Amino acid sequence: MTDPLVHAPTLTLIQQAALGSGASFWTTEAVGDVPSILLTDGPHGVRRQSGASDHLGIGGSEPATCFPPAVALSQTWDPDLVERVGAALGAESRALGVHVLLGPGVNIKRDPRCGRNFEYFSEDPLLSGVLGASWVRGVQSRGVGASLKHFAANNSEHDRMRASSDVDDRTLREIYLRAFEHVVREAAPWTVMCSYNRINGVYSSENAWLLTEVLRDEWGFDGVVVSDWGAVRDRVAAVAAGLDLEMPSSGGFGDAEVVAAVTAGALEADAVATAAERIARLALRAQENHHTTDTFDMSDLVDTHHRLAREVAGQAVVLLKNDLRDGAPILPLAPSRLAVIGPFAPAPRYQGGGSSHVNPTRLDVPLDEILARNAGHQVTHFQGVPTDPDDDANALRAAAVRGAAEAETAVLFLGLTPEEESEGYDREHIDLPPTQLALLRAVVEVQPRTVVVLSHGGVVRLDTVAQLAPAILDGALLGQAGGGAIADVLFGAVNPSGRLAETVPARLEDCPAYLNFPSENGHTVYGERIFTGYRWYDARDLDVTFPFGHGLSYTAFAYSDLDVDAGPAGLTVRLAVSNVGSRSGREVVQVYASKPNSQVGRPPRWLVGFAGLTLDGGERRSVEIPVRRADLAFWSVGGGQWVVEAGDYTVSVGASSRDLRLQATVTVTGDAPRTVFTRESTLGEILADPAAAPLLFETLGPAAQNAPAMGTDMLRMLESVPIERMIALSGGRVSPERLDDLLAALNAVRP
Ligand code: BGC
Repeated sequence: MTDPLVHAPTLTLIQQAALGSGASFWTTEAVGDVPSILLTDGPHGVRRQSGASDHLGIGGSEPATCFPPAVALSQTWDPDLVERVGAALGAESRALGVHVLLGPGVNIKRDPRCGRNFEYFSEDPLLSGVLGASWVRGVQSRGVGASLKHFAANNSEHDRMRASSDVDDRTLREIYLRAFEHVVREAAPWTVMCSYNRINGVYSSENAWLLTEVLRDEWGFDGVVVSDWGAVRDRVAAVAAGLDLEMPSSGGFGDAEVVAAVTAGALEADAVATAAERIARLALRAQENHHTTDTFDMSDLVDTHHRLAREVAGQAVVLLKNDLRDGAPILPLAPSRLAVIGPFAPAPRYQGGGSSHVNPTRLDVPLDEILARNAGHQVTHFQGVPTDPDDDANALRAAAVRGAAEAETAVLFLGLTPEEESEGYDREHIDLPPTQLALLRAVVEVQPRTVVVLSHGGVVRLDTVAQLAPAILDGALLGQAGGGAIADVLFGAVNPSGRLAETVPARLEDCPAYLNFPSENGHTVYGERIFTGYRWYDARDLDVTFPFGHGLSYTAFAYSDLDVDAGPAGLTVRLAVSNVGSRSGREVVQVYASKPNSQVGRPPRWLVGFAGLTLDGGERRSVEIPVRRADLAFWSVGGGQWVVEAGDYTVSVGASSRDLRLQATVTVTGDAPRTVFTRESTLGEILADPAAAPLLFETLGPAAQNAPAMGTDMLRMLESVPIERMIALSGGRVSPERLDDLLAALNAVRP
């Protein structure tokens, strides 16, 4: 960033306060030589409103490419592709005069009912962080700022502007802050958007620990913290905590409160000046970038971006199931007599509702695209299910079933309507509408070659669909070119390579947050702690319908020659992957780590790396996947720091979290403990330290050895005793002075 003039001292307090809130719904104030800038949603397209403004997706906006929303983008597991989408979004922002695009959303999908899951990447923090960083790099490569949101622990919509996410420190760090940390450290977004909710009782917008200690002091964020639209309740408290920009305009009320608080000595003048300075830098940087020689014109972008949207959508489709019929897999389809069933075939569901709603430049209709690919053969469409209350469900189903029976193959579109899931509210269940399941049941009875195509923003329960349908394509929400992409995959022009970024549970009741969702009395208890998504299903050994990372291909891959090395930066995982089929295809190799005998509770495995590689039929290639040391660490609550435990780690590689093909063990050097033993340290904690244990054993003497005589394992009994209790329990042999000498000696023998 070029260092602009130091503005704050040259501006009056009133001007500084004015810079700290919007001039309108989407713009900041112009003050002195600091220009006004325009912020706009995001994330999967540019929602540039020129008429009435709103953050609910109600009013219109300029046409812009509607790329696949994050729910589908994440299914590509392809950081390079996501970066290209980011760059395209940046170019359209420039063309539409937008300085900051409000995205990406990297909140963790804690529960499938969250109405906004379609805007988020994954249940896994590494996947969310890596893809979020790519998105930011892409957007910012075009001189447009990103806004990383919603910071933080905003994982449900219910009561979203008040509820407190009650989360323990370790869970926050390892799950809910981790993707944000990754993006901030790796991609330096120009802005971060604080969320509506409270965290452990404190509003994000007033949370000094979150906005200053963690975000700036620890992670080194040097951009602007902007509020979510309407998230500021007390502007003075927010500025004191580290919030720079309140959006949208508060009509001058907040500015006046800031001025009054500084005048009364209740708010540091420096805090206001610093916030103003950051906003001035952002505005000047944004303006400067818009004045570079590159110009972007929407009319030049529409075609190429529609093609990119189709490419991405094609990579995002997940082939969940593909059974054999007459000795060959059902998919891909050869042109034949088709019955295409369901309202989403002529009227696709391709994005979610609310602030991210994009006005697409064009729209691919799946039915038309199927017709084009199936040229020369008959395609008949049937609605199959009612779309309004006057429809006769039985008649619609009967017609579709007749059509399916007469066709060679049925392609059945199932999914959720826009009303069933949206920003602003959560779902109460994860079921597909019963009329759709009844239709599926009836169709598969008459047509053994039935392909289901799914459209939905949040995960839907699929056990019945998986039992009944011999082939399933999961499109989630594919954006404006999804119709073409579905046809590409159905007919094999694209070999599917998407992978689930979220587990499909067998039942809602199995979900980690089932009993703690949504909030109650203003509190959401994150009782499942670090066990989100597959971490939970694996730890509880629960059956799932489709596991995290799952996705089939029209070819098959074999894994061999796993080799894992540990070095100072982390691990290097090497293996060979072979395409053992005849078609070219892309495999996503996933790397999971486990830590047997960990000193803290750990999930059975967690994702530490992944890589995609495209191989021709019969081709074999080696791949090297780096695993960052940071991704092996756990958050030590006592030490307030990340710790990599010493010892053996198991590294597994495979095609999903439950399709692990190879495994190796690697020994990792641990972090030197930075905690010191205190009087409150237990004997067990001290004995777990290889350097201190011998000295303590020596001191404990017979107490540690006469276990058999006592009919118990004396050492295990003693483990939970704080060392200071030796004063009370040693019958006068250990004095306070002797204890402190012992503690000093125990700390001194550690490296
Ligand atoms: C949403 C944000 C969005 C903002 C502006 C809010 O309601 O939570 O994601 O960027 O509105 O539309």
